[in-house]
Amino acid sequence: MDNKIIFALDVYDYNIAMELAKKVGDKVFAIKVNWPAILENGIKIVRDLSKYSNIICDFKLADIDNTVSLITDKVREYGGYGIISHSFTGLNSLKAVVKSAGNMKVFSVVSMSQESYLDNITEELVQISKDAGVYGLVAPGNRPYYLKKVKELAGGLKIISPGVGAQGGNIVDAMILGSDYVIIGRSIYNSPDPGEALSNFARDINNKLNK
Ligand code: XMP
Repeated sequence: MDNKIIFALDVYDYNIAMELAKKVGDKVFAIKVNWPAILENGIKIVRDLSKYSNIICDFKLADIDNTVSLITDKVREYGGYGIISHSFTGLNSLKAVVKSAGNMKVFSVVSMSQESYLDNITEELVQISKDAGVYGLVAPGNRPYYLKKVKELAGGLKIISPGVGAQGGNIVDAMILGSDYVIIGRSIYNSPDPGEALSNFARDINNKLNK
C-alpha cells in the first residue's frame, strides 16, 4: 500500500535529497519536487532523482501559454513523470501545459490545502481542468468539505492530496473521501527515521482500508 503515497521532497541539499530518494523512492508512488530543491540544484536534479522514483514537478504553473509550455518542455526533457499546474489561469494556459507534457501526467490545482480564493471557484476550476484534458487534480487532504466536493466533480480524474501529516490531515480520512494518492513531506523528511515514518503511514492505510 506504500504506493499510495507521494513523497514531497522539500529539501535544498543535493546529497540529502539523493539519500532520502534512495531510501524511500521504491516504496512510494512518486517523489514530488518543488522550488526549494530546484532553486538550489537546477532542473538536473529531476533526472538524477528519477533513478529512484517517478518525479512530479510541483511548479504550480501560472503564466501565459508560451511560458508554461517552455517550462513543461524542460521538465519533460529531464525525465519528469508529472507536472503540477494551476488552473485559474484558464483553459488556454492549461491546454498548453497538457500539449507540451506529451506522455507526462498533468495535475491541476483546484483547491489548496489552506484557505484561498480558489475556494470560491473550485467547480469552475474542475471544469477547466477536464476541458483541458489533465490527468489528475490536486485537492486538499486536510479539508474534507473541499476534497469531497472535488471527488464528486472529478469524474475519472485521479486526485492527489497534500495536507496530510504536518498540515493536520489524516491519511485514512483523505483516502476514504477520495484521494487516490496522498502527498506527504515534512512528516517523513523531518522524522529521525524517514523510512519508519513512511511505513507507519502505509500501515495506517493497510489497517483501516483493508478491514
Ligand atoms: P507537507 O510538508 O505539508 O508538504 O506534508 C506538502 C507539500 O505539498 C505542497 N502543497 C500543495 N501543493 N496544492 C499543491 O499543489 C496545495 O494546496 C498544496 N498544499 C501544499 C507543498 O508545497 C509541499 O511540497
